[in-house]
Amino acid sequence: MSDTQEIARGLEGVVFTESKLTYIDGERGILAHLGIPIQEWAEHSSFEELSCALLNGHLPSQAELDSFDQSLKSLRNLPQPVLEAISGYPKTCHPMQALRTAISHLGVLDPDADDVSPAGRRAIGLKLIAQMSTAIAAIYRSRQNAAPLPPREDLSHAGNFLYMIRGSAPTPEETRLFDMALILQVDHSMNASTFTAIATASTLSDMYSAVTSAIGSLKGPLHGGANEAVMDMLDEIGSVENAAAYITAKLDRHEKIMGVGHRVYKYFDPRSRVLRDYAEVVAKKQGKSRYYQILEVIEKIVVERLGSRGIYPNVDFYSGVVYSDLGIPKPFFTPIFALARISGWVASVDEYTEHNRLLRPTARYVGLNDQHYRPIEQR
Ligand SMILES: CC(C)(COP(=O)(O)OP(=O)(O)OC[C@H]1O[C@@H](n2cnc3c(N)ncnc32)[C@H](O)[C@@H]1OP(=O)(O)O)[C@@H](O)C(=O)NCCC(=O)NCCS
Repeated sequence: MSDTQEIARGLEGVVFTESKLTYIDGERGILAHLGIPIQEWAEHSSFEELSCALLNGHLPSQAELDSFDQSLKSLRNLPQPVLEAISGYPKTCHPMQALRTAISHLGVLDPDADDVSPAGRRAIGLKLIAQMSTAIAAIYRSRQNAAPLPPREDLSHAGNFLYMIRGSAPTPEETRLFDMALILQVDHSMNASTFTAIATASTLSDMYSAVTSAIGSLKGPLHGGANEAVMDMLDEIGSVENAAAYITAKLDRHEKIMGVGHRVYKYFDPRSRVLRDYAEVVAKKQGKSRYYQILEVIEKIVVERLGSRGIYPNVDFYSGVVYSDLGIPKPFFTPIFALARISGWVASVDEYTEHNRLLRPTARYVGLNDQHYRPIEQR
């Protein structure tokens, strides 16, 4: 590397591969998978269908979707040693630590873990999409001092997850809402965790390692976790009456508002619009929840004061409230992100490794030169 070559801090703007999966236009607030806008996926599709489409590169036929769905259902069970290990994890550790460990444990127990052929990777990827749900639910139940529930084959991916954490089947409306929330998080082009999964797989390491490293990456608060911070903020604000003064004071102090701003979107994140539209439908039926009313006040002030600088609500602005409405507690928001994003990780690893090249960037050396080793007693 020459001394004059510019350093791309944070790899911003560095293009290292091509992808057919996800298109984003941050200026216009567009997100599309396989060319289809996220709003249409959210309205008409399911987590299973979007996952199948991304893995196969096209909208599936009914037969393809049925077969994909059946495979996921048949792969949901976790091996007993993993269930036992989960119940032994300290209840104080973050659920993302527990999830990272459980997924790695699944690899230890799989005799085919090191199969990095396209078919082998795909088979493990499918297994992990199915088992991620059961693992998160088991981690959740262990914190309630409750035994894990075996998955139910008669329920969809979204419905079965809600069943496994609650112990009773969700209503069709709850299932639909959760399914939509998953759809919104399935893939988002070259984000940090997807890049991490690809970097691991590019060494020809196995799919368990790729997903385990991606979970570690997602765990960081600069990636997953912002919706937890939004809920903390809403709890701190407390009432609709306090909202305007709280946000105005924060902006006057040049402090960041959680759930607002995005590295890519310089207009409304389209996923935040889908969630807001949903919240409005609920509000019409049941009246506006306190959280929703506070968010409305914040959104108005943020758009007025920061919109001209391209700072608008992002997906995390509303997603925490949706998860809370479904009875999912804050520490499980990031695991829910993983539950959705695993399909994006698997599809991206598949796509990249088809024409694999080891990811190995360069750092400019700025240390000392021409030094000599000195024995320790002479230092
Ligand atoms: C997501 C995020 C890191 C992207 O930011 P970025 O592109 O790196 O931009 P920066 O953090 O460098 O901010 C650029 C400017 O916008 C302002 N800004 C960015 N996000 C802001 C926010 N949420 N609230 C208020 N001001 C914000 C910064 O204060 C900074 O202002 P300055 O130029 O006067 O110093 C940032 O918007 C953020 O921290 N948002 C809150 C956390 C969040 O919701 N994350 C989830 C993302 S999906």
